[in-house]
Amino acid sequence: MLKATAENSEMKVPEGFEDKRICIIGLGYVGLTLAVAMCDVGFQVHGVERNPHVLDCLSAGKAHFLERGLDERVAKHVNSGHFSFGAKIEPDDHRRVYIITVGTPLTSEKQTNLSAIQSVARDVAEVLKPGELIMLRSTVRIGVTRDVVKPLLDSRDIPYALAFCPERTLEGKAIEELTSLPQIVGGVDNGSTIRAKNIFGFLTPTVITVSSLEAAEMVKLVNNTQRDYMFAFANEVAEICDVCSVSAIEVIRAGALNYPRAFNILPGPVGGPCLEKDPYILTEGVVQKGGQEGLALRARHFNEAMPSRSAALIASHRRGSNSATKKIVIFGLAFKGRPETSDLRGSMAYPLIKHLQAHFPDAVIGGFDPSTDPEEAKSFKIEIFDNAESAATDTDVIFFQTNNPRFQELNLTRLSGLMRNGALIYDYWNQFKDVNLNEGRSYAGLGTWLTANPPSSLGNKKRTASAPAYAGSVEIV
Ligand SMILES: NC(=O)c1ccc[n+]([C@@H]2O[C@H](COP(=O)([O-])OP(=O)(O)OC[C@H]3O[C@@H](n4cnc5c(N)ncnc54)[C@H](O)[C@@H]3O)[C@@H](O)[C@H]2O)c1
Repeated sequence: MLKATAENSEMKVPEGFEDKRICIIGLGYVGLTLAVAMCDVGFQVHGVERNPHVLDCLSAGKAHFLERGLDERVAKHVNSGHFSFGAKIEPDDHRRVYIITVGTPLTSEKQTNLSAIQSVARDVAEVLKPGELIMLRSTVRIGVTRDVVKPLLDSRDIPYALAFCPERTLEGKAIEELTSLPQIVGGVDNGSTIRAKNIFGFLTPTVITVSSLEAAEMVKLVNNTQRDYMFAFANEVAEICDVCSVSAIEVIRAGALNYPRAFNILPGPVGGPCLEKDPYILTEGVVQKGGQEGLALRARHFNEAMPSRSAALIASHRRGSNSATKKIVIFGLAFKGRPETSDLRGSMAYPLIKHLQAHFPDAVIGGFDPSTDPEEAKSFKIEIFDNAESAATDTDVIFFQTNNPRFQELNLTRLSGLMRNGALIYDYWNQFKDVNLNEGRSYAGLGTWLTANPPSSLGNKKRTASAPAYAGSVEIV
């Protein structure tokens, strides 16, 4: 049965609380943000992480990735002794709660690789004491908690509690959302559900208990797959509007204005460590249970194919212009721009680069991202620029792959002056208003391509840039 409770909000964990000692295994984006949020409310947290770079950063009092509010919390809780960490799960005399937050990547066949979860479950089983609670928080296909994790824990033949409690925060807003979003909790039995609910009740005002491990697993997969679906539809609208010479941005905004039954999602590349895999994980579980692949995967495939379609569109435009294409630079290499993140996992910049290289084999392809570590950006194997000016100089095409808020500080007029005559700025996010470029440079956005560049202009004519027609045209009257 579904139950939402709002009991312990604003409360600190009391001294005698039996589940005060938490051991989080896997201090990545999920584990580390959860660790500091739990320290904030008074839990004693020990983190286990096998990656020495992560541990080195923690020893230096900071996180290994960019997340608002994280570094200061790491430093504070490490210094106060509320947060400790190590490379292995060590036995502990006190009763503990184990939270598993290791990764669940896909194999090259798009199947979930559960090896990290299995290895951690074995390690936990070795140190488990009677009555301890294990919570799985990694994203898994339906049935993994019961069919994969539980048998490994059962090997010790001692009583324990088990729950699945999915992570649903947005990277870039994780700390804020951990203390505001409802937490979903589903236990293997009633006692497990209540214990997990009580723990998360210190963190967030609302804990929603569901009737089984599988229901909790499914909530996470359905939430993320729905998002991927909706983005795919926005991207389909963009392509439909391009064909019909209508601005998708105007259509979506106008349709959603004061109309409660419309969707208000703008088109753009969809990647990242969750959306790139969760529809596959959902489908994998459904197929294993005898069901069929459905729209979830079709939507995912549509989103995945966007870089290939965009590269082809740009190539066709460049062929129709008189200008050679010697340099293309991608602005925004992270998987998303807002909230700002340094995370490159699942970034659509990877396939975009591959397709641009195929269409423009003689061009230099470069990248610039004000939020990512230039060392990490080397994984793209392209030239990385550390400022917008050098990135834009002598460029034929700038691709805005993300809408990083710092791009709003760019002076597009000045940047366009550094680009070569005939150059194009293609903006996936339609993020610039009142675009005023230097003579001979043009600006177009996803879903506003043909609106800004009617078919007649795609010939050899040199065009002067102008703001797309949709800008600011949606008004309430
Ligand atoms: N990133 C997100 O915003 C997000 C959101 C919701 C759910 N999830 C899910 O949560 C899980 C974790 O995601 P993440 O982004 O934190 O992944 P991550 O790769 O950033 O972190 C996982 C960490 O676990 C460590 N690890 C792996 N095996 C270990 C072991 N045996 N012992 C100790 N440490 C080990 C890795 O070194 C890594 O640092 C995934 O299943 C993911 O799908 C992620």
